[in-house]
Order: sequence, then C-alpha cells, then structure tokens
Amino acid sequence: QPGHQKTIAGAPYVLDNTTNVTDSILNLVGRNLYEHPDHPICITRKLIESCFPQPEYNHFTMSDPVVTVRDNFDVLGFPADHPGRSRTDTYYVNSSHLLRTHTSAHQHAAFQTLGSEERTTGYTICADVYRRDSIDRSHFPVFHQMEGARVWGLDPDIESRYAAQSARTAKMATQLKALPSTSIIVEDNATNFSTDVNPMQPEHDPTEVQLVVSHLKRSLEYLMQQIHNAAQQSIPQSARTPLQVRWVEAYFPFTSPSFELEVLWNGEWLELLGSGVVQQSILNKAGLTRGIGWAWGLGIERFAMLLFGIPDIRLFWSTDKRFLQQFSSGKITKFEPFSKYPPCYKDIAFWINPAPAGASPRGATPWGSAAAAGGDATKASPTETQPAAFHENDIMEVVRDVAGSLAEDVKLVDEFVHPTSGRKSLCYRINYRSLERTLTNEEVNRLHDEVAKRMKAQFGVELR
Ligand code: PHE
Repeated sequence: QPGHQKTIAGAPYVLDNTTNVTDSILNLVGRNLYEHPDHPICITRKLIESCFPQPEYNHFTMSDPVVTVRDNFDVLGFPADHPGRSRTDTYYVNSSHLLRTHTSAHQHAAFQTLGSEERTTGYTICADVYRRDSIDRSHFPVFHQMEGARVWGLDPDIESRYAAQSARTAKMATQLKALPSTSIIVEDNATNFSTDVNPMQPEHDPTEVQLVVSHLKRSLEYLMQQIHNAAQQSIPQSARTPLQVRWVEAYFPFTSPSFELEVLWNGEWLELLGSGVVQQSILNKAGLTRGIGWAWGLGIERFAMLLFGIPDIRLFWSTDKRFLQQFSSGKITKFEPFSKYPPCYKDIAFWINPAPAGASPRGATPWGSAAAAGGDATKASPTETQPAAFHENDIMEVVRDVAGSLAEDVKLVDEFVHPTSGRKSLCYRINYRSLERTLTNEEVNRLHDEVAKRMKAQFGVELR
C-alpha cells in the first residue's frame, strides 16, 4: 500500500507506513447524516444549535474529515507521547494527515473567523469524527460530535488593553446575569481552580475566570434543560421528573481549568460532555490575543440515544425504512424497536506473542483494558501509555473490516497464562447480528474464518 494514492472526500493522498485507514471506514465518509433533516443526528444537532443562537454563535458543519496532525493534535497542545496520537487509537491517512478524532481539530480555523464581525462572539461546529475503539452497542468507529465556543474581549474599537479588560469583565458579568435559569438539579464538584490538578491559567485574572466558568456552566445547564424538556414532551406534566446533573474536574490539553458534565441516567452517572476555559495560546495563535473564552465538546449519538431511546449505535447508519421513517424534522419521538434478528456467537482463541522487552503496557494489561477501550482518548492524561505489541483495538479493527456493522459486539471472555511457557492466551467472543435480516450460518462462518485468517497474518498470533 505505501506509495499508493487514495482519494478521500475528493482530494488525493499518498499513503505511507503510517497509513491505517481501511476501505470499510472510508466507505462511511460522505454520508453527512447531520444534514438529513429527518435523521435523529440532524434533529439533535438542530436542537443543540437552538440553545446557542445566532447572531452570537455561527453554526458550522465540516464535511471533509481529513485534517492535519497539526490541527488535530499539535495546535491544541497535545504532548508528543499522548495516547490519542497512537495508531492503535487513530486512523492515519499518512504521516501528516488523519481522520479527525474530534471536532476540536477545527478550533483554530473557527477561532480565526471571530473578531472580524463584532456581533459574532462564538460558534458551534458539527462533524463526523473517527476513532479506533472497542465494538459494542455504544461504540462505532465513526460518530458525530458537536463543539461550541464563546470568546469575550474582541471589540475592535476599545484601544487600551486596560480599558479592554475592564470593558470585557463588565460585559461578561452582564451576560452571565442574562442567561435563563433552569430547574434541573445541579451538583458542582469542580469549583476550586487553584489546585495543581485543574488550575486556571497564570495569565488569567481570577475574577474573569470565575465569570467565564460560570457562563460556561450556566449555558450548558440551559442546554441540558432544553434537552430534558424535549425528551419529556410526550410525558404528562405530573409524571415528569427533574433532571440531575453534576460537574466534575477533567483534563484536556486545550482547556484549563476543565470540566465534565455527567447526568444521572437509570441510576448511573453518565459522562455527557467535556469543556473548559480555552488555553490562551490557542486564542493567541488565532489572532485573538485580547480574548478569553470557553469551549465544550460532546458526542451527538449519546444525546440522540437518550432523546429517542435508540438502543444500538449502528442504527444511526441504517438505511432501513423501518428506522428512517420513524423520525421527522424538529420532533423528538420514542424509537419503536422493529423485530430483532437472532444473534450468532463465535469464539476466537489464540496465543499472543510476548510483548517485546521495554514496551510499556497500556492500561492494566498489555493488550488493553476495559477502561482504555471504553475511555476517551483525548482526555487521558499524557503520561499514561505507549502502544504495545498487540492492542485490543487491533482485533476490533479486523472484525470491523471483515464484518462491518454485522458485528454487534466483541468481548474478551477468557484469558490464561500457560504455567510453564508463560505465554498468554486470549479468547474473544464475537456476536454477529444484522439489524436488517437473519444471517445464514455459512455467511457467519465465512466472516469468522476471515477474521481468524487476518489475525494470524497481521499479528502473528497462534490460533488455538
Ligand atoms: N474534544 C474533546 C473530546 O473529544 C471535547 C472537548 C471540546 C473538551 C472542547 C473541551 C473543550 O473529548
């Protein structure tokens, strides 16, 4: 493959040794689900955009998923050894280009659009994003994100720096007061920014940071209120329950302090979005040296699954009328499941070669841990990991490439260390199931044989 050329979203790229995108992934490029008015992804996007209205916020969508390593990681301050950069987590087109892993890849360009027009002080961006990940009902290698940001202090007519700062502080305070109040129950566990863990930036004024953070939190609580209202539309007033959310401290290379918002859902705290005060260096690089502001980012599927009661993330990619005809623009309705076709479980067991000496393990085990597989690559702390010889995402990728959306989930069901040789054996259980038809035994056997063949050829594992 290296040296070959590939056209993605209309542009040619020369492949090299870094390339790990597969055709099954590239086939999903260009669907632009967020543009189909009756699709739940688009309905959810519009609902979120309506909470950040024009003219204060411009709304962007970005159809070309290929971005530079610079825009996806470097500009945002990702350290060189950040696990998000590794080929086990990210789809590289070649050594300089990749499929964006988050909408933050467009922050730099979006910030550059601010400041020219006084009234536009923020933006939202919606786009498809790509991550190598585990296979289960809530993970798909392509999903959708939305990102928002807001900046103060861009007024071009205020000359002196001191005047500019006091004017912007006053404006922030006024705008904070003007935000609508909500009736959701909020627990704030992230109010102290003087710690080393989640510090404010040294060049920032503490009063201003407080204002930015409060404006950020109140704006997102308002978003949650609107989402919750929409989800409860069909429930009689008396039966409605208030929404419970909480703020927790977080880490992102491009914000500080940083926060996550979690929501109480069926008795469990579910992480919904990441946010924080934008790193000043990012604003400075975009020419907004007098600005201060916040940013947030969220996965649309998670919101849409909660809003519409959609149980399997693969359904968003369905072209089945029984799925698509259930939704229409501007309406939040509950998904009516159509018949489920039978699952087909197949196991694959193999010996993995011992990891080369010196390779440091990723997560709890060299081949990946549940936390690493389900976790969020961009927020992991920079010191955590190095790619190891066999990574759990490698088998996920093989299954994806062979079975596409016919694989519902892949689980590690057994691991075993041979008492004398010390070699490790892993057994994964693959659940093959179509959302649209019953798979035949022969078809599943063919897929499973192909998975085994590729595991052997690509990773040198010894099948048991
Ligand atoms: N890009 C982050 C992610 O993908 C989310 C984020 C966006 C966090 C903007 C902070 C600010 O997880």
